[in-house]
Amino acid sequence: MSHALADPRLSQRAGLFPESVIREMTRHALAHDAVNLAQGFPDWNPPAEVVAAAKEALDGPFNQYAITWGAPALRKAIAEKMRWFNGVEVDPDQEIVVTCGATEAMMAIMLAIVNPGDEVIVFEPFYENYGPDATLSGASLRFVPLHPSRGFRFDPEELKAAFSAKTKAIIVNTPANPAGTVFTREELQLIGDLCRQHKAFLVTDEIYEHILYDGRKHVAPIGLPGLREHVIMVSGASKTYSMTGWRVAWVVAPPAVTAAIRRTHDFLTVGAPHPLQMGVARALALPRGYYDKLASEYQAKREFLVGTLQKAGFRASRPEGAYYVMADFSALRPRAGMDDREFALWLVKDVGLAGVPASSFFSRKELGRDHVRFHFAKSMPTLEAAAARLAKLA
Ligand SMILES: Cc1ncc(COP(=O)(O)O)c(C=O)c1O
Repeated sequence: MSHALADPRLSQRAGLFPESVIREMTRHALAHDAVNLAQGFPDWNPPAEVVAAAKEALDGPFNQYAITWGAPALRKAIAEKMRWFNGVEVDPDQEIVVTCGATEAMMAIMLAIVNPGDEVIVFEPFYENYGPDATLSGASLRFVPLHPSRGFRFDPEELKAAFSAKTKAIIVNTPANPAGTVFTREELQLIGDLCRQHKAFLVTDEIYEHILYDGRKHVAPIGLPGLREHVIMVSGASKTYSMTGWRVAWVVAPPAVTAAIRRTHDFLTVGAPHPLQMGVARALALPRGYYDKLASEYQAKREFLVGTLQKAGFRASRPEGAYYVMADFSALRPRAGMDDREFALWLVKDVGLAGVPASSFFSRKELGRDHVRFHFAKSMPTLEAAAARLAKLA
């Protein structure tokens, strides 16, 4: 799709995708003094000892470039976390790249693996960035639906049909934004086995690996039988430690793949902020109870927001993980034939609540026509303010 830019001096590439709809909704939220449940970031600080460690690093010898693929202390801490949480032994010298967020990680990976004509499979609804990531690296996207009517799960036959000789990779986001799907061990093994058969990479985005509900356990595909050589895993600190502004994440991959990603990463950003890498190394050493508390606090917020939306007349089911709710507004009285974009603009202007029109998460826009995505990474007073505004709809 073309989103041509006004000035002919600008590149065709930059015209291949639109402005982020999420950031556009944030602008509307500011203009209308609305509660912003559009862009998913917390309104509280990271743990105090982690912030203290980053401040300490600023007073120490950490103000110059770190090694481009990550400060040794951080890579060691990531390897330790991979051992206890993901159950996988990783060589911090050969299998880890520290990046400026999962956002850069995904771009560096795509630039390292995609050749012209390659295809990359993504599940839809998808996280907005995967489209531009593919476009910028020259890949074509193939979409496999997560069916809302089946609790946002995929059909194995549709998945098999998407693989071909052109498939370079599939991106799997578990837990998923925006659908909330937590992929099961069996689903991930099936996806991984298809990658093995087709000599494709399984690129995982596991940024929400600690935010799962109702006792669910995260399964990291890198640890599944036979998949170690095929998985390129992305995780990071933004969501787990409530530090989306720090811009620290990492890639774990086999040595030869890591070497290629280190090259593209080096020329994209040189490296993530050194003092903040030291802070994240401290975060990775937090006691394990931290992660249980994180998930249970998010679970309480999930209950609150889903309950509030249902009371206001939305059809909204509980996500299995991550912190987003896909809310179907088609039964709401004021809707009167609006599509998702019209509804979201009406909601932000007249009701004072910002969400994201769901068509931006689908290749076939009509699939998102009846949904708006809200997130609940906000403190209770903010969610209560959202509830007070939604009460006007009931
Ligand atoms: C699925 C997914 N991946 C990646 C990111 C971005 O992560 P980072 O802040 O590490 O760039 C987000 C942020 O919302 C996300 O939802």
